[in-house]
Amino acid sequence: MAGLIRIEVMHGVNLDMLGKREPEHYGTLTLDELERQIEGFAGELGVETRFFQSNFEGEYVEHLHSLRELVDGVILNPGAWTHYAWAIHDALATATLPAVEVHLSDVKAREPWRQLSVIEDLCIASVSGKGIEGYRLALERLRDELGGSEPSGEPASAAGQDSGKIDLADGDER
Ligand code: DQA
Repeated sequence: MAGLIRIEVMHGVNLDMLGKREPEHYGTLTLDELERQIEGFAGELGVETRFFQSNFEGEYVEHLHSLRELVDGVILNPGAWTHYAWAIHDALATATLPAVEVHLSDVKAREPWRQLSVIEDLCIASVSGKGIEGYRLALERLRDELGGSEPSGEPASAAGQDSGKIDLADGDER
């Protein structure tokens, strides 16, 4: 792939309230601080990131429609939409991009209504319960999927990453 791998990080509903909402689940960083951290991870991994957040499902869907030619992969944390917004599932299917789902909290260990993810079947990996570290894992997974290499020049295939689908919930071994 010519040039840096380009990854879009899409935050959904209520993620703009990070830092003010339920720190026991979502930590204390604001969205802006989280995005600067993700940019730092991306720099270490030699990939490029762009960011998007919306509280409006239609905007989120339209942004997914626009991504096809613009980026190589996408990381999604759709917030509560994860659990019921089938329009986001269909928009992600239309985008035909490798996608990784990230949740700051361990959704599978919370309320029953959070157990379903409508995008899981379209994602090459799902990471939950690892806080901001989840975004680093997602970037690594996409970089490996897209054939990128370590900035040191180590080929992705030598990084020991299984190319199969991974589901990294809290406490899982990596
Ligand atoms: C979340 C988990 C969702 O269940 C919740 O509605 C969110 C955030 C997470 O990052 O843990 O808004 O996606």
